[in-house]
Amino acid sequence: MSELRIGVLTCSDTRSAGTAEDTSGKALIELAQARNWFVASYHVVPDDHETIANAIIEMADVDEVDIILTTGGTGLGPRDVCPEATLSHADREVPGIAEALRAESMRITKRAMLSRGVAALRGRTLIINFPGSEKAARESFEIVADQLEHAVAMIAGGGHG
Ligand code: MTE
Repeated sequence: MSELRIGVLTCSDTRSAGTAEDTSGKALIELAQARNWFVASYHVVPDDHETIANAIIEMADVDEVDIILTTGGTGLGPRDVCPEATLSHADREVPGIAEALRAESMRITKRAMLSRGVAALRGRTLIINFPGSEKAARESFEIVADQLEHAVAMIAGGGHG
């Protein structure tokens, strides 16, 4: 088992204002650490395109995390811009991850169709958008987690076994 370097990015106007505890981001940190992955970076930012994009760039290029898990800002509200911010400085989309998240989550709640979350690569960093509730973040993590070590090995040029 490899130790992944993880970044957790919470996108939320209310939580970034310090008015609410970021239970989703904290849950993702706990779940990652339970797999013996190293959480190297954690930020809570408002639902602002440039702020989210800059946080992703810093986590990918400076903190050099293998995977950024974002939570929040994937819905249909006017300030839900996390997918656009994710793609704005990405190199390649990884559509299968977003497809799996929606398909598996639809078995839990039909509202999963309302998440516009994407997954994409920036350099050697894989960015995955999760919805914002703690419940959705936990469920989403469990859907993708088993594939992430293999994904990171592939990004590094490893075999496709
Ligand atoms: N996916 C899972 N697995 N579990 C959930 O409870 N909630 C949905 C959806 N995806 C949900 C889910 C709901 S209610 C919404 S509105 C969208 O995610 C978008 O959430 P966001 O705007 O917080 O990102």
